[in-house]
Amino acid sequence: SLYHEQYRPQFHFSPKAHWMNDPNGMVYMNGTYHLFFQYYPDGTTWGPMHWGHTTSKDLIHWEEQSIALYPDSLGYIFSGSAVVDINNTSGFGKDGKPPMVAIYTYHDPVKEKTGSSQFESQAIAYSLDAGRTWTKYSGNPVLQNPGIRDFRDPKVSWYAPAKKWIMTLATQDRITFYSSPNLKQWTKESDFGAAKGAHGGVWECPDLFPLTYQGKEIWVLIVNINPGGPNGGSATQYFTGNFNGHTFTPGDTLTKWIDYGPDEYAGITWSNTGKQKIFLGWMSNWQYANEVPTSPWRSASTIPRTLSLKKTDGVYRVASVPVKEVDKQIATSQTFKNITADFAHQPAAKPLKISLQADASHDFELTFLYADDQKVKVGYHASTKEYYIDRTNAGEHSFNRSFASIHHAPRFSGEKEINMTLILDAASVELFADEGLTVMTSIFFIKSPLQVINSLSSLKNIRIETLNGIWP
Ligand code: FRU
Repeated sequence: SLYHEQYRPQFHFSPKAHWMNDPNGMVYMNGTYHLFFQYYPDGTTWGPMHWGHTTSKDLIHWEEQSIALYPDSLGYIFSGSAVVDINNTSGFGKDGKPPMVAIYTYHDPVKEKTGSSQFESQAIAYSLDAGRTWTKYSGNPVLQNPGIRDFRDPKVSWYAPAKKWIMTLATQDRITFYSSPNLKQWTKESDFGAAKGAHGGVWECPDLFPLTYQGKEIWVLIVNINPGGPNGGSATQYFTGNFNGHTFTPGDTLTKWIDYGPDEYAGITWSNTGKQKIFLGWMSNWQYANEVPTSPWRSASTIPRTLSLKKTDGVYRVASVPVKEVDKQIATSQTFKNITADFAHQPAAKPLKISLQADASHDFELTFLYADDQKVKVGYHASTKEYYIDRTNAGEHSFNRSFASIHHAPRFSGEKEINMTLILDAASVELFADEGLTVMTSIFFIKSPLQVINSLSSLKNIRIETLNGIWP
């Protein structure tokens, strides 16, 4: 039945049917979290892009809405963001009601075919009924292409000190910042990144926001990149530093990743959530997104994650942990202490939240065992200080040669004890180690239900919690 098909995530958003990629227009308004997404309603592979729409009161249960934006004569509707224009700077508001404004990229496939490099531009649309129906601005596009092939994915936020909007835009191998008083006229401020960070692929889907560390404001610049991720294909890198309303200056020259796994991409944060920053990504990878064996939908979102700043060895790092609303879904909880070896537990057939503590001086590994010796392994190598997820024997993988592999991520914490939380769903595992300093997301496609959780190494303790599924 609907939402209970084979491989269907039971704890993550996925569209009822058809193709999804990037999260778009994430905005919080009047008690509702809006999630728009790159959507192709006529098939299960990437096609002419629309903005699909889903809403949630708690970031866990989602109700899919009707399509928000359809392609038109200016092109497909590519990725972008949405804001609540509280001061009605755009003038789209009516009767004192602030408009919701979407800022998105037009990708013109006709112009693209002519060989022109100017087929991407930025445009806006507004909604006066909290995202249900949309009117495209008659003056579109609001930002013309200056001759840059990859010119897309505007993330807009209000910069209070100068009372202006800032657009953070991916422009091929860099980020370009623009400013505007009204979301309609945009002025270029500066470029960042031509020789900074990872450049194994094109820069896409950026985000810019401040976080505080011990009372100090530090700016985070998220830059998604495809390919060139740490485990191949697409991934989310970020920089920490300062933004003064005109330019971004990084505080270090390191390449840092929000999620080191293969299956978190195009992740950005919700707008209008105050000081709290909540992040969500597309749970796939362009290497095989179009080929994964699901039907009648393709792709899911990651679990929403709360971001914070931490400092290790003098370096600021963004940590992400599952939003606290996850815990409201806990149905049962069992804790096992001082595990020496040969731990085996048969969990209920539900999504699971698993939390463990282990001594960082030795290796450990959890095996999730399914029928026919299919398994997902999650562990830690003390000698290399690396976490890993192994999906080499995790069900269906014949759809793509690069899929069945082991993925690694560095540990940054120097603590003697490792804390790890896993969210295990029907077709994914998300690993949050050391309070979110190292994060990895992997998808997999095993037909049968989970049978046993095994550990052959010593663990200080492990807590296994079943989560109520989110679909009716
Ligand atoms: C990232 C991306 C964006 C683009 C969209 C098209 O996955 O390539 O840069 O706007 O997907 O669907």
